[in-house]
Amino acid sequence: MDFQSPPDNPLTAFAAWLSEAEKTEPNDPNAMSVATVDTQGMPNVRVVLLKGVSDEGFVFYTNLESAKGQELGMTAKAALCFHWKSLHRQVRVRGDVEQVSDAEADAYYASRARGSQIGAWASQQSTPLSDRETLEARVAEFEEKFANQDVPRPSHWSGWLIKPQEIEFWQDGDFRLHDRIVYRRPDDVSGWQTVRLFP
Ligand SMILES: Cc1cc2nc3c(=O)[nH]c(=O)nc-3n(C[C@H](O)[C@H](O)[C@H](O)COP(=O)(O)O)c2cc1C
Repeated sequence: MDFQSPPDNPLTAFAAWLSEAEKTEPNDPNAMSVATVDTQGMPNVRVVLLKGVSDEGFVFYTNLESAKGQELGMTAKAALCFHWKSLHRQVRVRGDVEQVSDAEADAYYASRARGSQIGAWASQQSTPLSDRETLEARVAEFEEKFANQDVPRPSHWSGWLIKPQEIEFWQDGDFRLHDRIVYRRPDDVSGWQTVRLFP
C-alpha cells in the first residue's frame, strides 16, 4: 500500500495485505471481528473467518439463528476489523450486508469437512446448552441421520456478504505516527474516494 498514492481499488489492496498476512501470521490470517448491534442498539462483536473476498465484498459463514445471524438479519449492517499483529496492520470495513445465494452457500458447505457439516446441524449456536454430553448426543444423532449419504446444508446455515462502503487501511508508524487511508463510497456502485486521516 502506497499511502502517498493509494491504489484506486481498495479490494485489490486488501487482497495484497491478506496474502502478505498469510505468509506471516502464525494462524488464522483470515480471522476478522464482526461488529453488529442488537435491537436495543447495544453493540456486539465476535471473531469469524473470512471465506471469500471480491469486488462485491467480504463473505463469512455462520448459523443464521445465532445472535449475529439475528442481528444482521434485523439491521442489515455490519463492521469488520482485521488485525495482523505480525505486520502491525489493521483494516476496518463498514457496510450493508446481505445473505449469499443458496448456490454459493451450498458450494462452500460442500467443501467443508464432514465433521463440520454435521456440527452445523448439531449446534444450535448461541442458545443455552446444559452440558457437553447434550452436544455430543446431537452430533451422534445427525451422524446417524445422514449415515451413508451426503450431509445437506441446513437452511439455518449460510453466508453473509458485507458490501463495503468504507474501508480503512492502517499501518503502524514510529512514535504512533501511523498511516491511515480511508476509502469511501456512498453506495456499492459508485467510485471510491480516499481521505487520509490523522493517526
Ligand atoms: C478464530 C475464530 C474463528 C471463528 N470463526 C467463526 C466463523 O467463521 N463462523 C462462526 O459462526 N463462528 C466463528 N467463530 C465463533 C464466533 O466467534 C462466535 O463465538 C460464534 O459465532 C457465536 O457468536 P454470536 O453468539 O455472536 O452469534 C470463530 C471464533 C474464533 C475465535
